[in-house]
Amino acid sequence: MTILILGSGGREHAFAWKLAQSKKLGKLYIAPGNAGTASVGTNVDISVNDFEAIKKFVLENAINMVVVGPEDPLVKGIYDFFQADAQLKNISVIGPQKAGAELEGSKDYSKKFMIRHGIPTARYETFTKDTLAEGLKFLETLEPPYVLKADGLAAGKGVVIPTTLEDAKTELTEMLAHAKFGAASAKVVIEEFLKGIELSVFVLTDGNSYKILPAAKDYKRIGEGDKGLNTGGMGAISPVPFANEAFIKKVEDRVIIPTINGLKKEGIVYKGFIFIGLMNDNGDPKVIEYNVRMGDPETESVIPRIKSDLLDLFEGVANGNLNEKTFEVDERFATTVMMVAGGYPEEYNKGDVMTGFELVEGSLAFHAGTKQNGNDVVTNGGRVIAITSFGNTMEEALKKSFANADRIQYKGKYYRRDIGKDLEVYYK
Ligand code: AMP
Ligand code: GLY
Repeated sequence: MTILILGSGGREHAFAWKLAQSKKLGKLYIAPGNAGTASVGTNVDISVNDFEAIKKFVLENAINMVVVGPEDPLVKGIYDFFQADAQLKNISVIGPQKAGAELEGSKDYSKKFMIRHGIPTARYETFTKDTLAEGLKFLETLEPPYVLKADGLAAGKGVVIPTTLEDAKTELTEMLAHAKFGAASAKVVIEEFLKGIELSVFVLTDGNSYKILPAAKDYKRIGEGDKGLNTGGMGAISPVPFANEAFIKKVEDRVIIPTINGLKKEGIVYKGFIFIGLMNDNGDPKVIEYNVRMGDPETESVIPRIKSDLLDLFEGVANGNLNEKTFEVDERFATTVMMVAGGYPEEYNKGDVMTGFELVEGSLAFHAGTKQNGNDVVTNGGRVIAITSFGNTMEEALKKSFANADRIQYKGKYYRRDIGKDLEVYYK
């Protein structure tokens, strides 16, 4: 099998690292990749959204399978692009068709899907510029805090949670009347605030059968104690202590099965990952959102815990026989600490030389925003390196991740030292 992975983050390095271990793998390409993916495959300088350039590369290099990392090409319809082309039709794409990717591409669509299929989620209503006045009135019927979501993709920034009615009204007006998030906020979903602890559940499906991957907890805010601006994710822990067998069974019965049946009933082809963002509301799962890809940095904790051959699983997805594939999970804890550039998620520097990779011991260093510059590896993004470690306890794994995060150096280095702290109570 010759594979092309699309993307350039820690998620894609983790995929590449895992696929490179498969006996079934021939050549591995990553577009555009980073300095880490270059150590396990060949980087190709093509943007994930340049479908014509991807087509040319796929045909010239006899690619058999395309693994799509980020949501953007899926929402833009890369699956459908392959299906509609006689030369590409038989090449497998791991990811849903455009109609399935709308589960992430439009919050309004995904809420309607959940309601249609009886999937537990927060009460909501959707408003546009023309119904702004109704939206302002609807806010008055809710208790604070208020959850306002731009309908479309907004690079992870489209959700705002004002704590006062006045701020919520200003925010709604900014989003609808002044296009705060551009076209993405032409529609705004307002929903009830859910209390509880969040977690991410991941499913791999061929459209009929599915495997529930290890769950993970993500740390979204930049600051310790979960303070400050939202980021793509500052760390991850897997397994999640409260996501025990009984809880996951509820997720399976109330969310996963109705989601897969719902997609089937609506004639949507879905061969890929479903990432379910959940709130554990006193033992009951409620869906916050769907993503149509794996999470980042959750992938860097979840994928290393999968003992089975990922390429074999992907073949099951592509061929529709995922139910025949073995799926084994490492029982140990995997912890990921994300090292970022100073200033992230606001303005930050790129091109700073990184050192100390050879000192890393007992952890995996997945590259995110890095690139090779002559003999140097330099920073090339906000999130730079994800340090993943295994341990028989969460504490043991974290200790290794922090020790190795201390060994890698670059100007302005920052990471959160409290990853996993909130889960310690479950282990006392
Ligand atoms: P999303 O982009 O939908 O993942 O939302 C970003 C973050 O906002 C989530 O990870 C939650 O922490 C928070 N959030 C979203 N919706 C709700 C809700 N209904 N209640 C409480 N928090 C929410
Ligand atoms: N870490 C959250 C995400 O990938 O969306």
